[in-house]
Amino acid sequence: MFRWKRLVIVLGSLITVLAVAIGALVAWLWTDAKVSTVGKASFDNALAIPPRAESIVEKDGTRVFDLRMQAGATEFQDGVKTPTWGFNGSHLGPTLRAERGEKVRVRIRNNLEESSSVHWHGMHLPARMDGGPHQMIGAGATWTPHWTVDQPAATLWYHPHPHGRTEEHVRRGLAGLFLLDDEKSARLPLPKRYGVDDLPVVVQDVRFDGSRLSGDRGLMQSVGFLGDRTMVNGTLRPYRQVHDELIRLRLLNASTARTYAFGFPDDRHFSLIGTDGGLLERPAVMDRVQLSPGERAEIVVRVGAGERVMLQSFAQGNYGDSWQRRFGGGDDSFDVLELRAAQRLRPSPELPAVLTTLELPHEEEAVRGRHFDLKRSGINGRATDMGRIDETVTRGTTEVWTIRNTNGMPHNFHVHDVQFRVVEVNGSAPPPALRGPKDTVFVPHGTTMKLALSFTAPADPDTPYMYHCHLLYHEDEGMMGQFVVVEKGQSAGTPPSHTGHGRGHEGD
Ligand code: C2O
Ligand code: CU
Ligand code: CU
Repeated sequence: MFRWKRLVIVLGSLITVLAVAIGALVAWLWTDAKVSTVGKASFDNALAIPPRAESIVEKDGTRVFDLRMQAGATEFQDGVKTPTWGFNGSHLGPTLRAERGEKVRVRIRNNLEESSSVHWHGMHLPARMDGGPHQMIGAGATWTPHWTVDQPAATLWYHPHPHGRTEEHVRRGLAGLFLLDDEKSARLPLPKRYGVDDLPVVVQDVRFDGSRLSGDRGLMQSVGFLGDRTMVNGTLRPYRQVHDELIRLRLLNASTARTYAFGFPDDRHFSLIGTDGGLLERPAVMDRVQLSPGERAEIVVRVGAGERVMLQSFAQGNYGDSWQRRFGGGDDSFDVLELRAAQRLRPSPELPAVLTTLELPHEEEAVRGRHFDLKRSGINGRATDMGRIDETVTRGTTEVWTIRNTNGMPHNFHVHDVQFRVVEVNGSAPPPALRGPKDTVFVPHGTTMKLALSFTAPADPDTPYMYHCHLLYHEDEGMMGQFVVVEKGQSAGTPPSHTGHGRGHEGD
């Protein structure tokens, strides 16, 4: 009897101690998970502006670029060398720029010690030129894709896409902008002097582990790696001197998992003029714009003479439950980029009332629908299989894709080759920030989104394009599927048999 009692007491106290310890651990994780850099440090590093990539124009008008993927070291913090990867340099890449109608060719040499690829995110181009996981470039090899630019002026980007390794390759620094111009946008009175009143703003979150960039995912971070600070164009705590009243920011979320809600601390309004694939019909005035990984927004903000204004990222309420918000980054906030306006500013012309006519398909034109259910374990219940073609679409047709997330955690959805129209979000018309051309959309838990897409790429039954969650950890883990474009009546072929981890091959 007595012994039993003692055992019960001992066991009881053990369980209590354990419960208290677990409680303390969760409380500590909970508190520790929230990140804010707002007001914590002065922003006194001059913002780096990615150089324009040099190009030569051949006799037939083809614009030719050279990119080298290479390993190196970057000094983010004074005197500390951090191992990084970059294009034509140690970190990030130059800004490529081409005009609608132009033929382009990019000679890419992979000087890394492992195979990789270079994907043109947002670009409409033949599947063989897409740079996805089927166009691997082996270590030491060269790949030379070429295509004709045939889409509106836009802020696109490029990054590696090796299956299972994309997160790591991007996080090490392989990313750059690809800007497209066209005659219509050239005539508009928009801020357009690169690096002056038209600033590239490539936002990434990082965490330093000594001198190295950390890639460790926190215990509860189901979305993937989240950093504890941000940088813009590879600059920590950046500021930029500006001399014009209106400043255009080309925002790219090049982070691997983090979603931002950009705005200013005084809630000043700005004009959204463009989304992923180009200009909106007309400027849309707002005070926040949310960008999940891979998305772009072009905003124009007015600054006053002599003022300093901080671009910030604010906490976001649409991440799912409070657990997801806390551990997925929704509660986090950041100082991102300080704009320092000169004492005398050059006057800027007012923004035009009308920017463009959208070249996007309508829902009514759709000849068929498809459903995509986003789960961490895979899309439509299937993890990525590089040898399986998931969807076959007919060239020249429009479809409506319904994307649904009931997975509890945030995801997003990116489709290669096309710019689509967001038709509906949870049964309602899309908000202004989703009314332009899009190739990536944030799909938080509890969201059903309808997209209208039209497929005009050349038929190629053997070479798939990808669609996937652009939270790169999810993509690498298997939230990716493949579609091919075929001629009417044709069926899908067989993707080349190789895995993303193998040695690459020479491109054409
Ligand atoms: Cu930005 Cu399939 O990628
Ligand atoms: Cu893409
Ligand atoms: Cu996801």
